[in-house]
Amino acid sequence: MVGKAKNEGVKDNSNYLRGTIKEGLADQITGAISEDDQILTKFHGMYQQDDRDIRADRRKKFLDKAYSFMIRVRLPGGTCTPEQWLKMDYISDNYANHTIKITTRQTFQFHGVIKNNLRDSLQEMNKVCLDTIAACGDVNRTVMCNPNPHESAHHSVVLKLARDISNHLLPKTAAYHEIWLDDELLEGGEEKAEKDFKGAEEEPIYGKHYLPRKFKTVIAVPPVNDVDIFAHCLGFIAITEGDKVIGYNVTVGGGMGMTHGDTTTFPRTADLMGFCTVEQAVDVAEKVVIAQRDLGNRDERKWARLKYTVEKLGIAKFREEVENRLGYKLQAPKPFKFESTGDRYGWIKGSDNKWHCTLFIQNGRVKDTKNFPMKTGLREIAKIHKGEYRLTNNQNIIISSVDEKDKPQIEKLLKEYKLDTFNQSGLRKNSMACVALPTCGLALAESERYLPDLVSELEQEFEKNGLREEPVVIRMTGCPNGCARPYLAEIGLVGTNPGKYNLYLGAAFDGSRLNKLFKKDIEGVKVRETLSPVIADYAKNKASGEHFGDFVIRKNYVKATTAGNNFHA
Ligand code: HEM
Ligand code: SF4
Repeated sequence: MVGKAKNEGVKDNSNYLRGTIKEGLADQITGAISEDDQILTKFHGMYQQDDRDIRADRRKKFLDKAYSFMIRVRLPGGTCTPEQWLKMDYISDNYANHTIKITTRQTFQFHGVIKNNLRDSLQEMNKVCLDTIAACGDVNRTVMCNPNPHESAHHSVVLKLARDISNHLLPKTAAYHEIWLDDELLEGGEEKAEKDFKGAEEEPIYGKHYLPRKFKTVIAVPPVNDVDIFAHCLGFIAITEGDKVIGYNVTVGGGMGMTHGDTTTFPRTADLMGFCTVEQAVDVAEKVVIAQRDLGNRDERKWARLKYTVEKLGIAKFREEVENRLGYKLQAPKPFKFESTGDRYGWIKGSDNKWHCTLFIQNGRVKDTKNFPMKTGLREIAKIHKGEYRLTNNQNIIISSVDEKDKPQIEKLLKEYKLDTFNQSGLRKNSMACVALPTCGLALAESERYLPDLVSELEQEFEKNGLREEPVVIRMTGCPNGCARPYLAEIGLVGTNPGKYNLYLGAAFDGSRLNKLFKKDIEGVKVRETLSPVIADYAKNKASGEHFGDFVIRKNYVKATTAGNNFHA
């Protein structure tokens, strides 16, 4: 055992992520699995949850919780085919709660999958070459990249890197195939597996304890910072010359999660570490992971992310640790400039002469309602679409690579199903909420079910002041873990108690600066009246081109947060 945190022992004893998951699935007495196996199934891409809307009622009736699972797909670069889309649609209807969630990390999630449907869901996914390996857990998770519809040449380079890094850093254990795809223990059963999995040989990168905590990697193409590079453990900023990507600036040590009331935990923006060539990028990713494997805190999970390792060592020392493992030096970072974190909606023609259409999907939730059969519409499009899909890092969908001649047919369906909702306000276009209630076991307050209404209220304030089109980034989460990156929002709301939120202001529009606490623990219904005078002041006194996040600092509503370690100051 290498550390004191409970999870370290569970990983240690798991026989490379097998644990007793197979036995747990066979147990028909309960819809749950054991606590230790819940830690392990995260590495296989799923979380045990229960329906919190009906928890109290079931308790009264002496019933067990309504257990089900959330399944997250590994989708490096967020790209999929129409066939894969149709499979997602099928899985959501047949095994999940009839909805698909497009996540803030450019992939699909399903909610409400009962234990007996887990295997079938993953087997259906496997039929279209998708998996959920390492989508959660203490490993490198799905790698995000800029979907960049208009600069197609850059997109293909960064997409390849996203896939290469994701594949290179996958756990090597055969546990996923054995448990979910009914493969026999590979090549000759347990004896062979025992032998092969002795020591670190079978997990050459991770070793048998994997990483101290989750690990997140992204690739950005300036000037768009839609991946929120500074929120992630490891980032690559593409440096381009014309059509060519000449290399990447490497960032390390970003992260969002913290605990309310514990100032030893804080969100942190990543540091620039250096520059590497295109050919070196996968190697650099591996060595950063290995440095974190060796140096990360395994005693306390709340300090176990790479951000705390970098904070403790300092960027110069951490860079030295990475370079020692690389056997060569990184170059000095090259100049770059980010302008925004949001998506650009509607149709655009790429440098490949194909058309790409970004759709606005409120909080990434794809579902049918009586007045808005969005999911059906997307299914009808998938039946005729010959290109691909790109999920964005802001929970939206790009119908991508459409030939000129096929465009009218897709436009017709977009109109028919009311999917051509490009005329949203600047606030709504830049809004994002995590899932929270009823599925997330960590939620302290509503998020996805509440933000649309709050945005409607705030829209009135912006509209009243002639600012309907003004792009302002607003994000909400149901707890401080920060799954929708709320600390990088110009208006951030983080749940503290049912109906109550901490209100943060003052992040940079380009995602480079964290926000600061403005009002603690206020009721959701008070947010509008709290922000009303600030919005009016902004309308009256903003400098030309000045973003809301910069304005509230200039006017002293909040102090600027210049680094994670002064987020609480
Ligand atoms: C201590 C930190 C964190 C914990 C314990 C945690 C846990 C969870 C849980 C339980 C869910 C499932 C909610 C559901 O689907 O019902 C979730 C969703 C998600 N988390 Fe986290 N999370 C943490 C931090 C983060 C951060 C910092 C990010 C991103 C930078 C992130 C990205 C996501 C994404 C993309 C989803 C999918 C749903 C969505 O798009 O809102 N998580 N997380
Ligand atoms: S931020 Fe909190 S409430 Fe929202 S999905 Fe993440 S863990 Fe759940």
